[in-house]
This record gives sequence, structure tokens and C-alpha cells, in this order.
Amino acid sequence: MEKTLSIIKPDGVSRNIIGEVIRRLEENSIKIIAMKMLHLTKAQAEGFYAVHKERPFFGSLTEFMTSGPVVVMVLEGENVIQKYRELMGATNYKEAAEGTIRKDFATDIEKNVVHGSDSPETAAFEISYFFNNFEIVG
Ligand code: CMP
Repeated sequence: MEKTLSIIKPDGVSRNIIGEVIRRLEENSIKIIAMKMLHLTKAQAEGFYAVHKERPFFGSLTEFMTSGPVVVMVLEGENVIQKYRELMGATNYKEAAEGTIRKDFATDIEKNVVHGSDSPETAAFEISYFFNNFEIVG
């Protein structure tokens, strides 16, 4: 069983599509084993996205991620990292496949509704960034 971190970003929360994202997870037999809502500080967003700190979009991305509450979840399932990435679609919604979350709801390469870990190593870092062992069930 694999685990991954999912974030419903401020655009997803403010547009009332938390339920729609969760519905798609459940419909695809992905289990939620931890969940909470947070309003990130700038320092917390910068720490989470530290791998991108040299990228030109880092300032804008961390501003956006602190612009409103987010929902963070730990997902569990077989091959869930890849499976959730397929449900999300490409980072750039213009390249996302039909029927994916980003194709259906993203409005911008940055405001792309959801985040998902991209590898087991990243997932371990990202899950421990937001959750301790007592907050993860299963
Ligand atoms: P995410 O999967 O959370 O990982 C990094 C985020 O940076 C990405 O989704 C987008 O929200 C944002 N971003 C903004 N511009 C770019 C870009 N040119 N390339 C990749 N990610 C970008």
C-alpha cells in the first residue's frame, strides 16, 4: 500500500469543489486516511514548496497558496501516487486529459485546484510536513 499527499488549493476551496474532488477519490477507490483544513502562512508555503525556490513562479505560487484555506489529505491505495496524478491531470490544465480534475476545473497553470506528491520520497516528506503519526488512521 502506497501513500500520497493531496492538497485542495485555495481556488478549489473557495469555489466549493472540495466535495467534487473527494467524490472523484472515492469513486476511484482511493482511501482518505487523514484530512484537515489549514490556512498556510507564507513561511509554511515556502517550506512546503522549497524545491521550487529558484523558480520564477515561487513568489506568486506561495502568495496564492496563502490566499485562503486549503484542505490537506493523506491518500492510500495501490499505486496511489500515480493513480492520483492521473485523476488530477497535467500541471498545465491546457495539457490535461479530458475528465481530469484540472481539465475540468483549473483556470491557470498556478490555480490548478489540486496538488499531489510526485514520488514516494516526495510523498514521505510532504505527508510528514502536515501530519504526525497520531493524525493518520489506517
Ligand atoms: P503543483 O503540483 O502544486 O506543484 C508546483 C506548483 O507551481 C504547480 O502545481 C502550479 O500550481 C505552480 N506553477 C505555476 N507556474 C508553474 C509552471 N510554469 N510550471 C509548473 N508549475 C507551476
